[in-house]
Amino acid sequence: MSIREQLLGAFAVPAGTPLSGESLAARFRVSRVAVWKHVQALSAMGFPIQSSPRSGYRLSPPFDASLSRYAKSRQGWITPHYFLNTHTTQRLAKEGGAAGLPEGHLWIAEVQTKGRGRLERVWESSYGGLWFSLLLRPSLPAARVPPLTLLAGLCLRDAIAKVYAVNASLKWPNDVLVNSRKVAGILTEMSGQIDRTDWVVMGIGVNIANPLSKALKNRAATLADISGKMLSRQKLIECFLTLFKPAYQRFLTQGFEPFQTRYWSHYCPPKSEIRIQTGNGLLRGKARGIDASGAILIESRRKILAISEGEIIL
Ligand code: BTN
Repeated sequence: MSIREQLLGAFAVPAGTPLSGESLAARFRVSRVAVWKHVQALSAMGFPIQSSPRSGYRLSPPFDASLSRYAKSRQGWITPHYFLNTHTTQRLAKEGGAAGLPEGHLWIAEVQTKGRGRLERVWESSYGGLWFSLLLRPSLPAARVPPLTLLAGLCLRDAIAKVYAVNASLKWPNDVLVNSRKVAGILTEMSGQIDRTDWVVMGIGVNIANPLSKALKNRAATLADISGKMLSRQKLIECFLTLFKPAYQRFLTQGFEPFQTRYWSHYCPPKSEIRIQTGNGLLRGKARGIDASGAILIESRRKILAISEGEIIL
């Protein structure tokens, strides 16, 4: 474990208590100046460390060291790679895919400086959330890959509902909502040809105890705020991966069809009149279901249209 990870770990116990530079220096057998330099570096990475000349340093919220522990060793089919901070785990995973790494490599970061969302949006990724990208190599033609995002969304919804004991729902195609606010999103990227898939990178972001900007606060929320709990992020990632693995294996042989009904049962935006922004413009209609290709079925002007890309505007 690097000295910076150890320093962050020290801020976890007892939670939120300030630690003097002197005590940290003695504990890690480095000088106080070295402690100060590491703290500066961690602050520059985006970790919210408060320092006061009288009481010392404290991290708010306290550091949850569970992800660094989780990433210490291979976890079944998962090979984790852990970063205190990086630009975006998507890029690391895509490089891994291009370099020929096998399925199951997973990149986690405490902080992302260039977190990416769908539709070229910025994804706020301060310390406190769960940010990771999983490399997959489904032996499927590229056209059969898109519903994988929906499948991951369903497993993520189930994991969030189970670990945080909240009523989570799905907003097609890739959002998990609680109380109508977004708590998680999925960005899937892939490389392949028509008849085969080279790699898929599934990027997952969950707002747990990360600060949200003012602009996001009326549409998004953190699980810590909603549930009043700050559970270890390790529990959530493990629960997700445990649910996802058998679902993914089933998907490889049977496609999305076995999951359609359950996905629809957790779909939350109004099924009455909705608006969807698609590449071809704004569409209004009634949401009628999800088909086996993962498209949402919209009844508009007495016709049922299968929409495979777009965003529901709430
Ligand atoms: C969305 O809802 O727009 C998708 C958000 C995906 C965010 C995750 S966080 C981990 C991975 N790295 C990124 O830069 N983006 C994804």
